[in-house]
Amino acid sequence: MAAPKYIKGKEPHKRERRLIFRNVDREGWDPSIATYIADGGYKQLEKAIKMEPGAITEEVKASGLRGRGGAGFPTGVKWGFIPPNNTKPVYLICNCDESEPGTFKDRYIVHQDPHQLIEGMVISCYAVGAKVAYIYIREEFPEGAKILEEAIEEARAKKFLGEDVLGSGFGCEIYVHRGAGAYICGEETGLIESLEGKRPYPRIKPPYFPAALGLYMCPTIVNNVESLCHVKHIIEMGGEEYSKIGTPRNTGTRILCVSGDVNRPGYYEVEVGKVTMGELIDDFCGGVKKGRELKAVIPGGSSAKVLRADEEYTVKAGDGEKTIGIRDIPMDFDTMAACGSMAGSGGVIVMDDSRDMAWVLNNINAFYAHESCGQCTPCREGSLWMKKITDRMLAGGGVPSDVKTLGSVADNIAGRTICAFGEACAWPTQSFVAKFPEEFKKHTSRKNAGKPLSGEAKLAAEGLAGS
Ligand SMILES: Cc1cc2nc3c(=O)[nH]c(=O)nc-3n(C[C@H](O)[C@H](O)[C@H](O)COP(=O)(O)O)c2cc1C
Ligand code: SF4
Repeated sequence: MAAPKYIKGKEPHKRERRLIFRNVDREGWDPSIATYIADGGYKQLEKAIKMEPGAITEEVKASGLRGRGGAGFPTGVKWGFIPPNNTKPVYLICNCDESEPGTFKDRYIVHQDPHQLIEGMVISCYAVGAKVAYIYIREEFPEGAKILEEAIEEARAKKFLGEDVLGSGFGCEIYVHRGAGAYICGEETGLIESLEGKRPYPRIKPPYFPAALGLYMCPTIVNNVESLCHVKHIIEMGGEEYSKIGTPRNTGTRILCVSGDVNRPGYYEVEVGKVTMGELIDDFCGGVKKGRELKAVIPGGSSAKVLRADEEYTVKAGDGEKTIGIRDIPMDFDTMAACGSMAGSGGVIVMDDSRDMAWVLNNINAFYAHESCGQCTPCREGSLWMKKITDRMLAGGGVPSDVKTLGSVADNIAGRTICAFGEACAWPTQSFVAKFPEEFKKHTSRKNAGKPLSGEAKLAAEGLAGS
């Protein structure tokens, strides 16, 4: 197949390896089924539908694919959790909530290559035995929802969907479900509650692991948009061949979304672990702004723990260990975890030395305080409390004990809640306060403590500034 040409000014970086984003920003490309089929689209569905469903799951296991939605859980292993003697219907849900701040990849797949997702989903449905699948898309993507609905109609007209997919006897329908715009609907059990028409209160795990007790208490596989697209490529090249892309245990490609203080922010699809943080920032993104120094990076969406630019990290090297700096960290799941953070959703937020870390944390705290579903006391109260403290610090009314209080509030959220939102809102505070104590102390001068706040500062402290 000829190498695709890209729109001028939007060409991929020379070190990118584009599987999922092959058609994103491609010259002459449009999201219609005609264009997709002319480029070899739906060939992998034709191949997969002739395989045994279990053999597809085995290929996905062999590929080593890990979920691209946040947790990095092995996709094939998750599929294998459907109870073997199950007699209930099985559902597949595509998580298209894409709400983690700093993450902007799934929306491009939906807008520019919806049939790649549909092909991946039908193959996945066939593998796990799901006759009904949902794409849960956030309200803020109305155009994406329309594109998907049109693509579904096109696919049904060509018999890639419907009662009898490609004459195989396997029937499969996909429905688009619009969310109402809440971050917590990205959490898989909150999403399921929302899809059932209820308030998106996450369910407690165990027992409500979706693969066993998911939608309508039936086995349900929830996967991210990007994860489901990879399935098509695994069928095309075979699981073992796919596993040679990337690095051991961290296979395939993934899309990194870079934002913040770099010269060329944007999306870059790379082999997992083959590009270091330094290469990503300096080479792919053209470095930090002129005259500025790298200060910190949040490597996997706003809930990932911040990495300080002058820290040293101890990571595995063969049978031993070695010490590396931030620029040497390979962008993979395991090394990022060894460095005390996570690769998460692939949203890399870069900060230079112009940033006030109390301001950055306040921005993050405001998001989580707004998005907590309110079900658990530590998360509901703690997320707001952390925001109020950083609000007050920025407004000039911080007190010296605030730094300690922030840490202790966060420590009392993480690990004490129903869902991982608890960690998502605690980790930024825990890591920012521990790694930049001097910056927070700066905002807790005793001379301002207890003084009445000025009008604007008072509004900010109450979270009302600008409203
Ligand atoms: C608070 C919270 C928000 C989440 N938001 C998203 C999201 O927007 N998109 C997503 O794919 N996964 C999100 N996840 C992860 C999902 O719960 C789930 O693990 C994921 O969709 C599984 O897909 P994967 O295995 O393909 O990664 C979120 C998790 C939490 C705790
Ligand atoms: S941790 Fe937060 S978001 Fe998750 S269920 Fe509890 S209150 Fe809701």
